[in-house]
Formats: sequence, C-alpha cells, structure tokens
Amino acid sequence: MLVFAVAAAKDFDLKVGNSTCVKLSLEGQAELTASESGKPVGDKITVDFNKFELVENQTECNVIKLIYGGVVQVWFQSDGKKPQAVTPIAAFAPDALFPNATTENNTVVFTAKSFGSFSGNQSFVCKSQLEHDFTTETKTELTFDLKAFTEKLQIEFGSYLEKFSDDVEECAQDTPSTTPKASTTVGPTTPMPPAESVNASVSNGNITCIRLVGEMSVAINSTHFLNVPSSAVASGNCSLNATTQVLELTFEKDWMLRFTFVKNTDSDVAITQIDLTYDTSVLDSAVEATETVSVKGQSLLKSSADGYYMCNANTTLLGVNKVTLTASNLKYRAFNDDKEAKLSGGTVTECPADEETSSVVPIAVGAALAGLVVIVLIAYLIGRRRSRATGYESV
Ligand SMILES: *[C@@H]1O[C@H](CO)[C@@H](O)[C@H](O)[C@H]1NC(C)=O
Ligand SMILES: *[C@@H]1O[C@H](CO)[C@@H](O)[C@H](O)[C@H]1NC(C)=O
Ligand SMILES: *[C@@H]1O[C@H](CO)[C@@H](O)[C@H](O)[C@H]1NC(C)=O
Ligand SMILES: *[C@@H]1O[C@H](CO)[C@@H](O)[C@H](O)[C@H]1NC(C)=O
Ligand SMILES: *[C@@H]1O[C@H](CO)[C@@H](O)[C@H](O)[C@H]1NC(C)=O
Ligand SMILES: *[C@@H]1O[C@H](CO)[C@@H](O)[C@H](O)[C@H]1NC(C)=O
Repeated sequence: MLVFAVAAAKDFDLKVGNSTCVKLSLEGQAELTASESGKPVGDKITVDFNKFELVENQTECNVIKLIYGGVVQVWFQSDGKKPQAVTPIAAFAPDALFPNATTENNTVVFTAKSFGSFSGNQSFVCKSQLEHDFTTETKTELTFDLKAFTEKLQIEFGSYLEKFSDDVEECAQDTPSTTPKASTTVGPTTPMPPAESVNASVSNGNITCIRLVGEMSVAINSTHFLNVPSSAVASGNCSLNATTQVLELTFEKDWMLRFTFVKNTDSDVAITQIDLTYDTSVLDSAVEATETVSVKGQSLLKSSADGYYMCNANTTLLGVNKVTLTASNLKYRAFNDDKEAKLSGGTVTECPADEETSSVVPIAVGAALAGLVVIVLIAYLIGRRRSRATGYESV
C-alpha cells in the first residue's frame, strides 16, 4: 500500500482580547536527545510542529507560545527592536521527560539564535529549512541536545492581524545566489530589472471607463530594455468620441504609451492602435532621439464590452523597427460604466496563448490514454497470434 505523507504547514493565531496580534505558520519538527557522561539516555524525541498547540490564556503580543503534550514549550519571541528579530525559546522540566534519569522538576529554559530582521508592519517568511540549535545556561544532570527545524515559516507581530501582511521580508536562504553569467551580447546592454506591475485607469467623474493592469517591457534592438514602471502616470479620455476611448501612460523622460480602444457596432471592444513614443537617451546617452512607433488599424486583444480581457502569457503587443513591446499578466476593461472597473468575475475573454498552456495537461492525459490503447491492442494481437499458432499445431 502506498502512503502519502502530506506535510502541511500549521497555522497558529494568537488572540489577546478580540484581536489576533501574533500570526505564525510553520512546518518542521523539534528533536531532543539526552545524554549522561556521553552516553545517550532514552530515545531521541522527535515532535512535529503540527502536534503543538497554542498555550492558553496568553496575554502578551510580543511572543507566541506553543506547547506539546502539556510538557514541552516552544516560543517565538520578538525582541521589540526596529527592525525586530525573533528568538526561539524552548522550555521543559527534565523529569517530566526523563523521570527515571533525573530528579530535576524545575523548568529549564533554552534559547536559540535570533533570526529575521523585519519591521512592525511586515511579516517574515522563510520557506527554506532553518536549523535552530538551543542551548541553556542552566546546569542540568543530563546534557540535552535540542534542535528545531522549521520550514515554510511565516510570522508577524501586530494587532488586528486578519491575515499576513503582503509586505513580506524574506530570509536570505530563500533567495538563490546569483551567479553572474558571461555576456555574449556585443555592444552596450542595459540589464533587465524585474518587471513591474502597472495598474492604470482613466476616470470621468464617478465612472472609471478604462482599467489596464500588467507587466510591460520595451526592447530596442534586442540590446536595450526598459520596463514600463509602476510609477507611470495614467491619463486619457473616456469619450474621445462616442466609440473611442484612450489611455496614455507617461514615464521616464518623454516616454509615452498610448492605447486606443474602440467599441464596434457588434458591441465588441478592441485595441485599434498602440503608439509608443520613446527617447533613447534614457537607455544610452550616446543615442539621443525621440521617435514614435505605432501599430494601428487592427483589432487587437478583442474583448466583449460587458467584460474584461485577460492574457497571462507573455505576448508581443507591438513590434516595429526592432522596437518591441511585450506584456504579461495583462488585463484590461474599457467602456466600463461603473466606479470599479473590476478585472475579476463576469465575462472574461482570454487570449489563445493562455488556453494553449492550460490545455497542456488534457493533451498529456489524452496522449497517455492513446498510448495505453496501443499497448492493449498489441498485447491482444500477440495473444491471438499465439493461440492461433497452438491451434494449428494441435490439428
Ligand atoms: C508601515 O508601512 C508604512 C507604509 O507602507 C510606512 O510608512 C511605515 O513607516 C511602516 N511602519 C513601520 C512601523 O515600519
Ligand atoms: C456621483 O455619485 C453621486 C452619489 O452616488 C451622485 O450623487 C452623483 O450624481 C454622481 N455624479 C455623476 C457625475 O454621475
Ligand atoms: C538601434 O539600431 C539602429 C540601427 O541599427 C541605431 O540607429 C539605433 O541607434 C539603435 N538604438 C539603440 C537604442 O541602440
Ligand atoms: C476628450 O476628447 C473630447 C473630443 O476631443 C474633448 O472634447 C474632451 O474635452 C476630452 N476630454 C478630456 C477629459 O480630455
Ligand atoms: C473617433 O475618433 C477616432 C480618433 O480620432 C477616429 O479615428 C474615428 O474615426 C472617430 N470615430 C467616429 C465615429 O467619429
Ligand atoms: C516577455 O518576453 C520578452 C522576450 O522574450 C522578454 O524580453 C520580456 O522580458 C518578457 N516580459 C515579461 C514581463 O516577462
């Protein structure tokens, strides 16, 4: 029999009064071995964190205390500094765990090295495994080796913590070390910073007629790159005429990206023109020129007027004279007639590229089934041939 062990992170929400003021989520385990004069005493004790419970009636919001079996406690305590760090603390009475080997019934407190450096309104995340080695100053009859291993750890201290803050400080272990690659490109290149998400809208009074979100980047000559920054300023016109709306994004020095949206007679909405005005002095001070490239007259990214358009795949919106504008996680809604201009729920028109990726799984399943049919068929034919052969012999 197959047994799948699904390790799930366990969540602990510490409530003081009516408000959750510490949130903790983690998986992993604590391990304890005891020894006397170098000889192990009893077996190693391993306890999974999902077997721990919150200690009841806690009144402080700078520490979250967990307990296992009413005996072993593990705490995560903020040092209250700015930025703060978290100290793991463990506490147990030796004779509760090793009654035959010790006479000590006083609780011994162990501490491990602090971790993290994050501000009051951040949550700290460490998906990687962290090893916490606990030590104590207290002299004990037995010598203890106490360790905790945590994974998928997330912790936040605050007040009214409905959920973890989106503002996350991640541990260094989670960021893979970047090995610099040898450049094979000839000529000057600007390295590509991580894509930024643009969230732009155009409003007229109470009505947000256009909303567009996505990550967009411009490449020139395949050597110079610029992301449309999230700080790009949006402006536009909700009624250039009865069937035309415009969104303009301005950024950097003299850069402008202009989308023209048209509502067709059949009530479809499409982008009929994209203009990009760029000044290359931003990318390379040696080349100074303001130019505009455009694609027009096409029904690009067609959507239904009562819904929104979505394309998660990285697609090329514009490609003229070695200037390309690419977008991913793009969504837009135009000719909207309420305040929100929601990009979720309702009618959505998704680009074909997304459907290709989402149909990969069904295709794989289909291919596997087809393979199975072929194998069964071959087995059947071989079987038939054999039985026929024996049939001839017996005649
Ligand atoms: C919390 O975040 C805000 C902005 O996001 C910042 O101005 C403020 O300084 C932060 N507070 C703390 C305690 O870090
Ligand atoms: C905006 O909304 C308010 C309250 O909902 C309403 O009184 C006002 O007429 C609206 N203005 C426009 C231009 O629709
Ligand atoms: C791109 O290449 C063209 C000609 O090949 C050149 O004139 C232009 O300056 C280049 N642009 C940049 C930004 O390097
Ligand atoms: C939108 O365009 C129309 C027609 O050109 C113009 O009359 C109107 O003032 C423009 N609105 C805004 C907000 O620029
Ligand atoms: C609306 O304005 C656009 C851009 O100026 C123009 O191309 C289009 O012909 C106009 N449509 C109508 C119906 O006036
Ligand atoms: C989209 O693909 C182009 C070309 O491969 C790349 O330069 C660009 O960074 C990609 N954009 C995003 C947002 O991933």
